[in-house]
Amino acid sequence: MKWKNLALAAVIATGGLTGAHAATVKMECGSGATVREFCDYIKARFETETQHKVEFIDLPAASDEKLSMLQQIFATRANNVIDVFAMDVIWPGVIDRHLLDLTDAMKDLEPAFFPSAWQNNVVNGRIKGVPSFIDAGMMYYRTDLLKKYDETPPRTWGELARIAARIQNAEREAGNRTLHGLVFQGKAYEGLTCVVTELVASHGGGNFVDPKGTITINNPRAAEALDTAAKWIGTIAPRGVLGYQEEEARAVFQNGDAVFMRNWPYAWLLSQDDTSPVKGKVGTMPVPRGGEEGQHAAALGGWQWAVNVNTTVPDAAIALVRLLAEAKSQKHNFLVMGVPPARMDVYEDPEVKAKGPYLENLRAVFEAAVPRPSTATRSQYPRVSNAIWNATYDVLSGRTDGTRAVADLENRLGRIKGREWR
Ligand code: GLC
Repeated sequence: MKWKNLALAAVIATGGLTGAHAATVKMECGSGATVREFCDYIKARFETETQHKVEFIDLPAASDEKLSMLQQIFATRANNVIDVFAMDVIWPGVIDRHLLDLTDAMKDLEPAFFPSAWQNNVVNGRIKGVPSFIDAGMMYYRTDLLKKYDETPPRTWGELARIAARIQNAEREAGNRTLHGLVFQGKAYEGLTCVVTELVASHGGGNFVDPKGTITINNPRAAEALDTAAKWIGTIAPRGVLGYQEEEARAVFQNGDAVFMRNWPYAWLLSQDDTSPVKGKVGTMPVPRGGEEGQHAAALGGWQWAVNVNTTVPDAAIALVRLLAEAKSQKHNFLVMGVPPARMDVYEDPEVKAKGPYLENLRAVFEAAVPRPSTATRSQYPRVSNAIWNATYDVLSGRTDGTRAVADLENRLGRIKGREWR
């Protein structure tokens, strides 16, 4: 009897029979300039606070390439390649059946998060991910240059193009030969779908596919939005933007070589780093409107923590996601990566407030942000997005014009849809 009690005490002390197994969780950290610092912090805490270990797995940085790689991994049904990973806001409806159901393990966390971010991961009533951070497209500009030319931050794309051209040309004449008016993500990939979502919505051209699944892209305002952007290439934007993702645009802007940049909130903290040539010279503003009648439209982005349904270490993977979901973790993620937390309480933290004054305005931006048509197009979204970025790229690179591109895109989306989105 006495011996039995001792054994029981030992089991309790080590966390129970099953929990006592030390597991190694294979984790993908997401991407970003300072992501490793955050992941090392999480690994150190997880390995101290539990008996488990973390091993990092690298996936490609671009959202669409990462998704293809994950889909290949899922297709092999391998259970030893990846356990926990960062999932883009547009994926839950696409990879739903490969995600561990986290409903029972995570449902108590819901009140801490922005409701829209939380709901995005609920598929057919089941929780399939826990929000890490929210993203919304925004513009950065050089406060020193606008001041020098007595200009104020533009409200419309037309004004932006005028100011960008004026400052670029005057500065080049004065010897600043490497300055460009505008940089953004113009490569044919998911980031271009975000850019064109903003452009089209800001011109009042809709959202490609409406919430009911109807294809709406073939309209004159959408065509005008594409033609407007095509005029920037080789004038205010370098031809090179056709190969830029987020980090290429940031490199040019942060080096002092652009007046305006379209990017995500992460670029702010990096631009204010002590090593940054534009430290103290950067302002932020909403994505411009298409015209006096257009609207400010920020594309909605963001990342979630999800668990592979084939994991052999579900308990440890869940413990890791719960740690990632803590306010302390999301605060650290903001302090090193500058990404807007998905938890509401982190915004009240004095250190966060001091380092991210712009976060205060972001709340309203998140609420009004324009989602990509991933919910309506369901598992077909990757093909839809691919068609959207290719059509946009064709206009930007001068292969076609806006009117023809939106008509072709309507046809292409119709073929992908078939009778219904599925
Ligand atoms: C950002 C956004 C993500 C988007 C990606 C495109 O990471 O958070 O939602 O898909 O950019 O490049």
